[in-house]
Amino acid sequence: MSERTIVVVSAGLSQPSSSRLLADRLAGATARELEALGHTVDVETIELRDHAHAIVDTMLTGFSTGELARAIDILTKADGLILVTPLFTTTYSGLFKSFIDILDKDSLTGMPVLLGATGGTSRHSLALDYSVRPLLTYLRADVIPTSVFAATDDWATSGGTPAENKHDDVNPLPQRIERAGKALAARASARENEGPADPFANAPSFLDLLGNS
Ligand SMILES: Cc1cc2nc3c(=O)[nH]c(=O)nc-3n(C[C@H](O)[C@H](O)[C@H](O)COP(=O)(O)O)c2cc1C
Repeated sequence: MSERTIVVVSAGLSQPSSSRLLADRLAGATARELEALGHTVDVETIELRDHAHAIVDTMLTGFSTGELARAIDILTKADGLILVTPLFTTTYSGLFKSFIDILDKDSLTGMPVLLGATGGTSRHSLALDYSVRPLLTYLRADVIPTSVFAATDDWATSGGTPAENKHDDVNPLPQRIERAGKALAARASARENEGPADPFANAPSFLDLLGNS
């Protein structure tokens, strides 16, 4: 039975945070499916709020230290990521983008990623597809097609069977979470995790540089 590590990043600012709630539900759905596929699962959660000052320090100095450096190390070695941001002014929050900006640009290459967002209105649900997804696509992450947007009203829906909801255009939040978790679990289960790219892999040896002399 092989282990899979899922790293959850929540950029919510409120306490309690609806982004954290969505992140936890997505992690739960993903872990259940991975266990059903025969894996043991380790879920690590990174609350960006706790690292906000360190993230700005990293932007100013160019390198991270301490707990933030440890969090980034765990993230880059994960088998799958769940990234959840609140929508601010119809896009990802500044804290979310700042965190993405301090990552090595190659560190998410091929990484299975499930995207989630929370917002006050369902009218902004497409922000996941016009702003968050392109950001992760640029970084060559393996972003799964299913993403989950939770507006304030979504938290009031209790769920129900697909048959009971057949007249709704959009499935209730619990069903969307389950579907997304299954999709991420399938990618994370199948992935051959080679770990983060070695930045020195293509460096010439001193012998080559000295012309084999
Ligand atoms: C400055 C600001 C801008 C916001 N802009 C939007 C927006 O454009 N669209 C939207 O749906 N919600 C917007 N919201 C609402 C938040 O996205 C929503 O409350 C979110 O769920 C908060 O997440 P949290 O509880 O994890 O902090 C905004 C909230 C703030 C504070």
